[in-house]
Amino acid sequence: MSTAKPEDKKITTHTLQEMKKRSEKISMLTAYDYSVARILDDAGIDVLLVGDSASNVMAGHETTLPITLDQMIYHASSVIRAIRRALVVVDLPFGSYQGNSKEALNSSIRIMKESGAHAVKMEGGIEIKDSIERILSAGIPVMGHLGLTPQSIYKFGTYVVRAKEKSEAQRLIEDAHLLSDIGCFALVLEKIPAQLAEQVAREIKIPVIGIGAGNGVDGQVLVFHDMVGITHEFHPRFLRRYMNLYDDIKAATEKYIGDVKSMNFPNEKEQY
Ligand code: KIV
Repeated sequence: MSTAKPEDKKITTHTLQEMKKRSEKISMLTAYDYSVARILDDAGIDVLLVGDSASNVMAGHETTLPITLDQMIYHASSVIRAIRRALVVVDLPFGSYQGNSKEALNSSIRIMKESGAHAVKMEGGIEIKDSIERILSAGIPVMGHLGLTPQSIYKFGTYVVRAKEKSEAQRLIEDAHLLSDIGCFALVLEKIPAQLAEQVAREIKIPVIGIGAGNGVDGQVLVFHDMVGITHEFHPRFLRRYMNLYDDIKAATEKYIGDVKSMNFPNEKEQY
């Protein structure tokens, strides 16, 4: 079990590239606040993603669309204050980069300047090529995201597995090559067939990090709240729950309520 120490070397985009070369798998989880980010960093996580899934799990929205750039910067700043070792990547939220490349660059600069994050992540392939290139030319590392891209949920209409059809798979392969060739440092592949993800990871030179994309990729990412079972009504096949915190927190809260009502808390030792 790895436990990060303060003297441990910081993870950079270069580190991830080296990990791919020596076939060492990359671990990535989402984080949106200081306290959780501190625990995950101390545990030795390689990459923390300040995902726009904060819109769902932190704010309770049905989709990732409502979260704003200001809100992402707030979450990212909290995470950055906690970490000593992990690479921190921040999602550019819906509406902050699709308009044009200048807007995309300005949004990325705000994230980097105001939160101190290390990189940004963007959903899409050839249709956002100009924006990615402009951000990269400013020296900001970009992580790509293909497959199921939740910011386009109203175009897809559903969260089912993507790229099962040959034509969509072919387009995804081309987009993955493009993102690698123009200089993205890594790529997330979400909810696509494992064989396709493995092929992409084999063919492109940058690390491929999967979520619902099988074991043949260079690393894995999960939403932290799903991984520890705080969210409990979400059961996709790809999710492995390592804890059941929903039940534990609920039971602890019920016990606390009981103790307060019965005046069992606080006791004599718990007062001044
Ligand atoms: O926002 C997010 O949490 C993500 C992961 C699912 C990769 O983009």
